[in-house]
Amino acid sequence: MSKFTYETVSHVHHWNDTLFSFKTTRDQGLRFENGQFVMIGLEVDGKPLLRAYSIASPNYEEHLEFFSIKVLNGPLTSLLQHLKVGDKVLVSKKPTGTLVLADLLPGKRLFMFSTGTGLAPFMSLIQDPEAYEQYEKIILIHGVRTVSELAYEDFISKVLPENEFFGEEIRQKLLYYPTVTREAYRNQGRLTDLIESGKLFEDLGIEPLNPETDRGMICGSPAMLDDTSEMLNRRGFVISPRTGVPGHYVIERAFVEK
Ligand code: A2P
Repeated sequence: MSKFTYETVSHVHHWNDTLFSFKTTRDQGLRFENGQFVMIGLEVDGKPLLRAYSIASPNYEEHLEFFSIKVLNGPLTSLLQHLKVGDKVLVSKKPTGTLVLADLLPGKRLFMFSTGTGLAPFMSLIQDPEAYEQYEKIILIHGVRTVSELAYEDFISKVLPENEFFGEEIRQKLLYYPTVTREAYRNQGRLTDLIESGKLFEDLGIEPLNPETDRGMICGSPAMLDDTSEMLNRRGFVISPRTGVPGHYVIERAFVEK
């Protein structure tokens, strides 16, 4: 039996020259936990060309959504960026990944640390009603180089709070902190620096990180994962050692070299 299904592209959105999102149909048999990823791709010269992509849509939606970088000469993204409505993509039947709520110890606040396309799994998780049941506050931090890379900004700050089912929870519990490093913006600097200096907590009007009450999820480049993990470790946070064994935080690398 094939490990993949063919799904049809239903929507494509280009954020800027380097980032785009697309939606596809979803096989009725595909089950996943919010925060997980699947392999997706195209058939090239009769062979599947696949890369890992976090699912950006929540698991109760009928469609799947993905958020991708466009890499010049990237074997897959140089093709994927030309996707049009009606095109077919391959989607693996076995979602997996470490950014799942079940691998975190109980806590009061959940910090989501992301840079670039590392935002994708958190787009799924911030639409998960379970996350709002488990936490008093969810703090989503998204670091990017330029303002145009702040994908989903409007959706997070304007559309979600008006959601007819859980808009109220979003308004009370979700704090969104976009930050830009290479252009002027209301929040500026790397998320690691903003945490070290305490500016992020001042800006949001919240207590600094504390392993007694806080849990974390990290998704970004390898260097960002290292630096953010190190920062949490220094504060006494312990990473979940493997799936099924909960910790204070979990990490996943954003799959960028595509
Ligand atoms: P900077 O502009 O200072 O490099 P990238 O596209 O390279 O993944 O970067 C996305 C965002 O993540 C940029 O704002 C970048 O800042 C930031 N970034 C890169 N490396 C790190 C790191 N080690 N820790 C925190 N943020 C980082």
